[in-house]
Amino acid sequence: VNYRHIYHAGHLCDVAKHTALCVMLGALRRKATPFFVLDTHAGIGRYDLTDARAQTTGEASVGIGALRRVAAQVEALPLAAEYWAVCRAVDPDGAGSAYPGSPLFARHFLREGDRLALCELHPDEAATLRRLFRDDKAVQVHQRDGYEALRALLPPPEKRGLVLIDPPFEEEGEFDRLVAAAETLAARFANAVGLFWYPIKDRVVTGRFYERMAGVSRLNMVAAELLFGDDVRGDRLNGSGLILINPPWHVAEDVATLGRALLPLLDLPEGKVLLSPLAGAA
Ligand SMILES: C[S@@+](CC[C@H](N)C(=O)[O-])C[C@H]1O[C@@H](n2cnc3c(N)ncnc32)[C@H](O)[C@@H]1O
Repeated sequence: VNYRHIYHAGHLCDVAKHTALCVMLGALRRKATPFFVLDTHAGIGRYDLTDARAQTTGEASVGIGALRRVAAQVEALPLAAEYWAVCRAVDPDGAGSAYPGSPLFARHFLREGDRLALCELHPDEAATLRRLFRDDKAVQVHQRDGYEALRALLPPPEKRGLVLIDPPFEEEGEFDRLVAAAETLAARFANAVGLFWYPIKDRVVTGRFYERMAGVSRLNMVAAELLFGDDVRGDRLNGSGLILINPPWHVAEDVATLGRALLPLLDLPEGKVLLSPLAGAA
């Protein structure tokens, strides 16, 4: 695996994914019983935006950077409160020196008795992640294939929880692996809440993906798309997609409401947020 998330940390796709993740985790936390979170493609957990690799792409400047420039307006959005708290915790003076990864967002929501399992295949990235959570008993870091971990770690004894699958999409077959992962969830942990990330490029590809996901039984699924503009072209990244699996009550609507509120703040006046229920069999 050659992918390094440091090049993309804090980009629009990260903002879309992490804001939705926070909305979903907030809903899970409403119930007192313990929950489990599995992040199958965890990355390093915290990104130094002053690193030359982050600076060369400049991707953070159009995502978290844009939000930082209108911080007061982000702070006025109740649905963004937890997301923003985690962003500020790694960048307390708001200078844009760091951005949290999904493990830090998930960790923020854990209470006494809740657990977080993080999988990262790349040895260096896994070692960095392990250092970040060295003394944290609620967090387990596994250097392993996150897709395989679905079978090994599910169902959790807590019997409720969230599974985040955020693959790099650098190799062929990632959409196929997401469909297979949904089948595994349906078979092993059908009441899981889930969040699967995917890029929106060619509409034919996403359409086929939605059809196949809709064929997975026992899961309720909604595709939530944040499109950067009006014009969708097959040869470029047009937006960020999330399959929301078994979204708790009102969560899909809240994800969309928050996404729409963020579009102007992200400087995407032509952007759109679309929710499409995928007709999964009951
Ligand atoms: C998009 S990044 C993850 C970003 C992270 N979820 C976040 O939001 O901060 C994808 C990560 O998956 C890792 N990876 C690639 N294939 C994997 C696999 N089969 N199992 C686990 N991790 C994998 C890559 O090394 C990379 O760090």
